[in-house]
Parts: sequence; structure tokens; C-alpha cells
Amino acid sequence: MEAMRIIMDEHRSLEAILSAVRYILGEIGARRLAPDFALMRALVHYLEAYPEQSHHPKEDRYLFAPLKLRTAEGAAALATLEREHAESEGRIRSLKRALCAYAEGAPGGFYGFVDAFEAYRNFYHAHLQLEEREILPLAVRHFTEEDWAAAAAGFRAGADPLEGTRDAAREDEFARIFAKLVAAAPAPVGLGVGPYLED
Ligand SMILES: [Fe+2]
Ligand SMILES: [Fe+2]
Repeated sequence: MEAMRIIMDEHRSLEAILSAVRYILGEIGARRLAPDFALMRALVHYLEAYPEQSHHPKEDRYLFAPLKLRTAEGAAALATLEREHAESEGRIRSLKRALCAYAEGAPGGFYGFVDAFEAYRNFYHAHLQLEEREILPLAVRHFTEEDWAAAAAGFRAGADPLEGTRDAAREDEFARIFAKLVAAAPAPVGLGVGPYLED
């Protein structure tokens, strides 16, 4: 079940990134860390390129579509998840708008970005849980060997660069973002050695 491993890896990787960003925003709010807008823009770019434009479309195609051919179970959860996948652009737009306002020094810009980010993080927490609780067990029960083989091939292509990729240029770019994020976050996510402000 290589496809299952890749899906779970991509979920854990996203959760690790979101935890690291949450920690960093907390440190910025406490004035222990200076904001790094280039890093935050790179982060939003990563979220758009991988979880939103790669992971979800692969789930639609290689997980949800074949599952619907095998069983009618899980229809309500699938409908919710597909709608949430389709709302991807709006989610990223909200984050970008809030980050722009923050970077331009708009009044309340930092807290606006924190709110937008928290909404994004909460959304993902519920989304990943629903997939793992309702849909993955159904795939385990109903997928044929051919379904798993097709899903493995589909998920392998364009895999999240933070979990091993075939595209070295992007891997470098995103690995750098991730390295910076985890360096600033505490264990178990990070190393706890960020670019801290000197008081
Ligand atoms: Fe999803
Ligand atoms: Fe997912």
C-alpha cells in the first residue's frame, strides 16, 4: 500500500509545517522573533503548490474516484471532502491577502494574518481527520490490487518534495523553506534554534 504511505506522509508533513508556523507566529507575537516575510511568502507558495494543487487533485483522482466505483459507503464524507478540495483557491486567496496586509504594515496586519492562518490550520486539521477516519479505512476495505497500483503510480508522480521528490529543483526550493521553519520551531517538530531577536 505505497499510496497509503505517501498520503499519510504528506498529511504528517503538512501538519508539521502548520505546527512550525503556528509556533513561529507565537514567537513573533511575543516579540522574540523578527518576521521573515520572504519565508512566509515562500510558505504560502508551498501550501498552494503542494497540499492544494498536488495532494488534493491526486486524492480526487486516485482515491475518491475509484472508491466511488467500489462502494456507496462514505458518500457524505466524500461530498464534504470534494467540496473542500474545490474551495482551495479561496483558502489560499485569504492567506495571501492577509499576508500582503501584514507585510505592507496595515493596522492590525499581524493579527489579521494570525487569524487567517489559524482558520487555515483548523480547516486542515478537520479535513485530514475526516480523510483518515472515514475514507482511508474504506479504501483498505474496498480497493482492488489494481486500484492500489494505480493509486501508487499516481501519488508517486509529483510527490510532496518534503517527502522525497523526482524534481530536484523544486525539492531544493521547498526543502530550504522547511529547513528554516523547523529550525525555528521547538521539538518535536523543530530544533529550537531560530533567528531570535536579542532583547
Ligand atoms: Fe484532501
Ligand atoms: Fe489528504
